[in-house]
Amino acid sequence: MSQVDTLKQRRSIRKFQKRPVPMEIIRQILETASFAPSAHNAQPWRFIVLTGSQQKSGLAEAMANAWREELERDHIPQGTRQKAVSCSIERFTSAPAIIVACLSLEDMDKYPDAERQCIERDLAVQSLAAAIQTLLLAAHANSLGTCWYCAPLFCKQAVRRTLEIPDTVEPQALITLGYPDEAPKMPLRRPLQDYLYCEKWGAPFR
Ligand SMILES: Cc1cc2nc3c(=O)[nH]c(=O)nc-3n(C[C@H](O)[C@H](O)[C@H](O)COP(=O)(O)O)c2cc1C
Repeated sequence: MSQVDTLKQRRSIRKFQKRPVPMEIIRQILETASFAPSAHNAQPWRFIVLTGSQQKSGLAEAMANAWREELERDHIPQGTRQKAVSCSIERFTSAPAIIVACLSLEDMDKYPDAERQCIERDLAVQSLAAAIQTLLLAAHANSLGTCWYCAPLFCKQAVRRTLEIPDTVEPQALITLGYPDEAPKMPLRRPLQDYLYCEKWGAPFR
């Protein structure tokens, strides 16, 4: 299979076999993630791997409790709330491994003004995203499935408390990892002309 085919055939996987993923493979995948580009080569990513049932449940429950409160505030009916929260717990606990991707600004530049500080933070977020994508592709190259979830962004404190993450570090994403137990169809992609321009905004690429 060509490298381009490998890139195109990665899919988000939400159903996994029970088979555990060897720790050595997880280590290799996360080492590969560090080959992603990063602003100032600061490598602002930090990853926490969870494979124990208790640890996965602890995190999933803590995140679910935070979400449940949010749904209550949004006046979502109780039955719908319960279903959504149970489904989220099941998604996370049924994956053989969970990887929590965090952002550390420790080695990023510091600016006295809020505007440039905000840009610097964006650089770090983009760098972390590059590492997560590299992780996803490294997993795919090892016949493993992944799904990238943004849930930790909505309940940072709950994730911090559960995993003892310092306040200076920000949980940004959760990636489930395991051997796929489904082969989903590719979700539709926008046609090229909807997002690709040539020479100036809106001019078709030919
Ligand atoms: C930043 C980000 C956040 C995502 N969050 C979720 C999520 O919360 N739940 C989910 O099921 N999938 C999530 N996904 C996966 C997308 O739904 C998926 O990538 C998209 O539908 C395209 O499918 P594909 O990955 O199979 O190509 C997320 C992906 C990204 C990049």
